[in-house]
Amino acid sequence: MRIAWITDPHLNHVSSRDWDQWSDCIASTQPDALLITGDVSEGDDVVLQLRRIADSVAAPVYFVLGNHDFYQSSIARTRQNVIAASRELDALNYLTDLGPIPLAEGIFLVGEDGWGDATIGNFEDSFIQLNDFKLIDDFRETSADLWKAKLNQLGADSAARLQAKLDAVPVDATHILVATHVPPFRESCWYEGKTTDDNWAPFFVCGRIGQTLVEFCQHCPDCKTTVICGHTHHDGIATLLENLTVYTGAAVYGSPGIEAVIEITANQLRIQNHRH
Ligand SMILES: [Fe+2]
Ligand SMILES: [Fe+2]
Repeated sequence: MRIAWITDPHLNHVSSRDWDQWSDCIASTQPDALLITGDVSEGDDVVLQLRRIADSVAAPVYFVLGNHDFYQSSIARTRQNVIAASRELDALNYLTDLGPIPLAEGIFLVGEDGWGDATIGNFEDSFIQLNDFKLIDDFRETSADLWKAKLNQLGADSAARLQAKLDAVPVDATHILVATHVPPFRESCWYEGKTTDDNWAPFFVCGRIGQTLVEFCQHCPDCKTTVICGHTHHDGIATLLENLTVYTGAAVYGSPGIEAVIEITANQLRIQNHRH
């Protein structure tokens, strides 16, 4: 089985010609499935773009949403619209709404949006002001002194859902592929070959997902976990534990690509052609 991994395509920034080129490029890799780790588009456009992808690629589309996918809308409304579309269209699979998906003998896919959850780095002294706070209703309609608690809650909610999915994976699983938008560790949060500092980390690391992954991997030493994520638009690979590796994908606005091909054979999962 070959999965084309795409991250942060930000399709609202893509011209119609480049969109067609991108989908031709995906088709030419003849994937059995597509896996998108968020920032597909923005809230008023994401369902349309997901439908367009499903129509143009003759393969199931597995995905999570990124922070940009909620712009011009609210988190709950966007998720509701995306869940409705995914339940209506067989080809669309919103992993945040789904349990573990078997990919091959002993190999499972789970996914969760994740959020820069202000648990890592220094939120209070950071100079970073993401557009999230202006463009997502949940923040726009909340006073700034409550933002940190909201970020914490979004990370905790994601981690709780991920925990339930990991608990649902059969105990004899040998490999789990976890798709999420936000890097779960500071060590996997890349920018031009370096990892993030205390200013950026609160918004670019989902610490609660990281904590859940470490606890799971320590508890199940015979099961490998490979995490794929995006959000930073800069790529890198981080090995956190012997059985826990995180691949972070790159992206350029207006120029969507294919981050890597994930090849799955019986009991083996390999990430090929990762550009790093
Ligand atoms: Fe992005
Ligand atoms: Fe993002």
